[in-house]
Amino acid sequence: MSKIHNDFTALMGIPTPVVAAPMAGASGGALAAQTSAAGAFGFVGAGYLTSSRIQEELSLARAQLCLSDTDPLPVGVGYLAWQLEKDPSSAAGLLNVSLSNRVQAIWLAFGNSIGRWIEHVRSYDASSGRKQKTLIFVQVSSVKEALTAIQDWKVDVLVAQGSESGGHGYSAAPPLLTLVPSILAVLPKDGPPLLAAGGLSTGGHVASLLALGVSGVVLGTRFLMTKESFYNEVQKKVLVMANANATVRTTAFDRARGTLDWPEGVDGRAIYNKTVKDVDDGVDLEIVRDNFNRATQNRDPDQMLVWAGTGVGLVTEIQTAQAVVRELHADMMERLTFLSTLIAT
Ligand SMILES: Cc1cc2nc3c(=O)[nH]c(=O)nc-3n(C[C@H](O)[C@H](O)[C@H](O)COP(=O)(O)O)c2cc1C
Repeated sequence: MSKIHNDFTALMGIPTPVVAAPMAGASGGALAAQTSAAGAFGFVGAGYLTSSRIQEELSLARAQLCLSDTDPLPVGVGYLAWQLEKDPSSAAGLLNVSLSNRVQAIWLAFGNSIGRWIEHVRSYDASSGRKQKTLIFVQVSSVKEALTAIQDWKVDVLVAQGSESGGHGYSAAPPLLTLVPSILAVLPKDGPPLLAAGGLSTGGHVASLLALGVSGVVLGTRFLMTKESFYNEVQKKVLVMANANATVRTTAFDRARGTLDWPEGVDGRAIYNKTVKDVDDGVDLEIVRDNFNRATQNRDPDQMLVWAGTGVGLVTEIQTAQAVVRELHADMMERLTFLSTLIAT
């Protein structure tokens, strides 16, 4: 199989420049392990998990990859920085469970003290006496945030999240085709590999972003639509049935479920349904909450929460994570080969 060779694939030791995003409530050890096993790189979404739940997911990944307890683990763990900030006394425990499992990477996003958690990871590595350096991924949505991540935190991998993204993101984020060149313009030659996230579903998308100048891509929604994701059958069916106009950026679901302590300026992209309509129409929030909780319990697709990016309409089946990676790789290679034929000599 031909491979992509660039700074990102060399850093990670993988042939396919694709990352399965850490998705709170959706990506666990099986999804991460199967993605990495197929030649891309998978993250566990630690989001709202306790240390023992993170350990369970990492043990599952380790078992699926047939690794011993002491082997390095070729998956990453993604943390919501605002969750760590909520209770700093337990943050070290949440991070250390991943570090003691020797995960290859830690991903941080959405918080005001990301530098503090990066410092924690680096001190852990330094004091552990082992050679392994845990790679730090940070997700940003503006040039200003990118410069902080590059210059102040010296991150190992930078992820540019555009407004097309499924799940939470900054409401002011530009579309990827604007955000990526803006960040590339300030990225130093010896800077970290830049990855693109948001609305990407196909191998053609991967090839086009590589052509734009990134070193890899991050896909969330495409990996929600796998056998391994934690989404239930109803949510997966909603995703499969959705068309290209089905999503909206909104705070309606955070208001309905009471998760309002996200940093300022953050909303989320999800499938538009009656819960969003009711909030937009000014229906009393208590009523919206009751309806939402009932709908979640009854798995009512017209009111429950289904996060999704703009690329959701391009995918019409649930596959295994390995099949998704294989398909992305083959289609990406085909598009890149085609592009090279366009050059007249
Ligand atoms: C269900 C879901 C949960 C997510 N959870 C997180 C998270 O915990 N941390 C994070 O940094 N990003 C999270 N994201 C955003 C992803 O990191 C990524 O930016 C996004 O999925 C890319 O857009 P796409 O879904 O259109 O591929 C989540 C996305 C989804 C769809």
